Amino acid sequence: MKKNLRAEVMATRTVKYEAPSETSYDQKTELKAFDETKSGVKGLVDAGVEKIPPIFINHKHDQLHYKPYNHLDDYSKYSIPVIDLEGVYTDATKRTEIIGEIMEACGKWGFFQVINHGIPVGVLDEMIDGICRFHEQDIEEKKKLYTRDVKKKVLYMSNFHLYSSPSADWRDTISCFMAPHIPDRDELPTVCSDIMIDYSKQVMRLGHTVFELISEALGLNPNHLKDMDCAEQLLLLGHYYPVCPEPELTWGTSSHTDSDSLTILLQDQIGGLQVLHDNQWVDVPPKRGALVVNIGDLLQLITNDRAKSVYHRVVARHVGPRISVACFFRPQIRRGSSLRVYGPIKELISKENPQIYREISVKDYLSNYLSKGLDGASSLVHFKL
Ligand code: OGA
Ligand code: NI
Repeated sequence: MKKNLRAEVMATRTVKYEAPSETSYDQKTELKAFDETKSGVKGLVDAGVEKIPPIFINHKHDQLHYKPYNHLDDYSKYSIPVIDLEGVYTDATKRTEIIGEIMEACGKWGFFQVINHGIPVGVLDEMIDGICRFHEQDIEEKKKLYTRDVKKKVLYMSNFHLYSSPSADWRDTISCFMAPHIPDRDELPTVCSDIMIDYSKQVMRLGHTVFELISEALGLNPNHLKDMDCAEQLLLLGHYYPVCPEPELTWGTSSHTDSDSLTILLQDQIGGLQVLHDNQWVDVPPKRGALVVNIGDLLQLITNDRAKSVYHRVVARHVGPRISVACFFRPQIRRGSSLRVYGPIKELISKENPQIYREISVKDYLSNYLSKGLDGASSLVHFKL
């Protein structure tokens, strides 16, 4: 029971599987020792490590894919769409244009950036600063929150998949559910409580707008995806990627797809996020004031592949720390006492577009990520008809 609950809550991503090294026994002991320091990757860097510990070394690290930031020659051919939301509620012509751009971005990229989205840049900056303050505060304060007990409202830990991934990532994270029940201020860390609440409210509003636009882009009623409760729950992760002494040996975040319906990501100006597009890893360049939006596996399933959930990763770097805030939207597992069931939307299925996936309960859907999800293929293959 406890294990299932954990699977449900922690399943925010599908990690691309790579075979564990032969040293797995030692690795397990070392992972535990690292976990028990409760000081995360930042603790290692503060202690002055010059070589990364073996648990972080990714033996299949693809050197070919490790290129300096902004490496692409034909940058315009491969750049993540930037969509300007100015006028989305006031100008009907502009709204139609935006919907067209969203449709194209969801189908071709699964990723886009939005500007003029209504969240002031001061709020974005303060959110980054708040997460930075959390990670850089006195270690004894942070240790009180270090746990893998997902029943806690606020968690701080390093690597959600610490014990199930082939290697650990160079990253620490604070995590908190911000909807449907917004936590009280005193339940959140003092150094960032106000901004977490303010930012979450604004991101929730933006999420609703994006779900409306995607619904319309699919030819549905604007409220269709919201009415399916795609935006019911909001999980906020505040990542901290410390400077890495040997970035070519590990990852900030290993390649994965998000398992939610939609993610809104705020990144600082350091860079390092990459998206797999046409078999190329493409940088998502930091853009001040912009937010990154990406489609999760659940939305790919219910749109019957009209919106794509794509692999992405964060490279480790000599510069930093890098801070990002990922907000995951998804339905809750239960409504009342019954398990929720999701499948491709009927209106999107036709003779030309036959149903690709079966119906599945959110509970089974999320549990799958920990049991069968780690096999290299997109987790969605398990739900194909
Ligand atoms: C994630 C993620 C990217 C980043 O949290 O799922 O992809 O830039 N984060 O931190
Ligand atoms: Ni992700």
